Amino acid sequence: MANNIKYFIGNWKMFGIPKSISILDKINKFVKSDKKFNKKYKIVITPPYTLIQSYAKFFSNNKISIGAQNCYHKDNFGANTGAISSLMTKSVGAQYIIIGHSDNRSEGDTDAMLKSKVENSLNNKLKVVFCIGENKEHKLGKKTFEVLEKQIKNVLEEKFNFKDIIIAYEPIWSIGTGQIPEADDLLKTTIFIKKVLRNIFKKKSSSAVLYGGSVDGKNISQFKKLNEIDGFLIGGASKSDKNFIDIIKNYYK
Ligand code: PGA
Repeated sequence: MANNIKYFIGNWKMFGIPKSISILDKINKFVKSDKKFNKKYKIVITPPYTLIQSYAKFFSNNKISIGAQNCYHKDNFGANTGAISSLMTKSVGAQYIIIGHSDNRSEGDTDAMLKSKVENSLNNKLKVVFCIGENKEHKLGKKTFEVLEKQIKNVLEEKFNFKDIIIAYEPIWSIGTGQIPEADDLLKTTIFIKKVLRNIFKKKSSSAVLYGGSVDGKNISQFKKLNEIDGFLIGGASKSDKNFIDIIKNYYK
């Protein structure tokens, strides 16, 4: 079953300085003036930590929510040079947080660290965008479902509030490569992820499941018929207002 909201989440990664707010400003103007953009759609932009506070302040009354891209695995405050906790991101206005992106997994995030990041973020009333995805080797070895199920089960627990968790399925081989999954495979994978989530949370409905990996204004038309997908996590194309707006426009056109 598809959820009612379609998310468009922009992951800026290591991009952006204060004046890059003009990108959000243009996206905001577009969604405010476009009659087709209604409550069924939700836009979240995750700039780097340095910009969360100023952007969140600016957009507090608007249709764009601001999120963080990661946090340290310990919460609150501590003697951890350079670290930023989920509490700190919340305190400057983040409403969402990405956890478990493959960039961070490849830099050493373990399942135990991810579990603690998710738990701390939920305790701080952040909505968690939890990323999972197989690599090329898993895909070729037909291990995708097994890998995804493990990634979910090793981190998420029944006691977590499934309504504050969004899953972003991002096959590693599709991130930044221009390659996207076959529609049929993506549909089957999304349905599988939802089944695993319903089993963990023991609920009839599932958390939202997004797709991420090389989404752009052109290929978005191939995803829109897959109603099971509850939105998109967009990397490269979210750094340009034109590309990001094209994705939204072409999605509901
Ligand atoms: P991409 O990145 O859209 O540039 O492939 C997606 C992501 O890393 O979240």
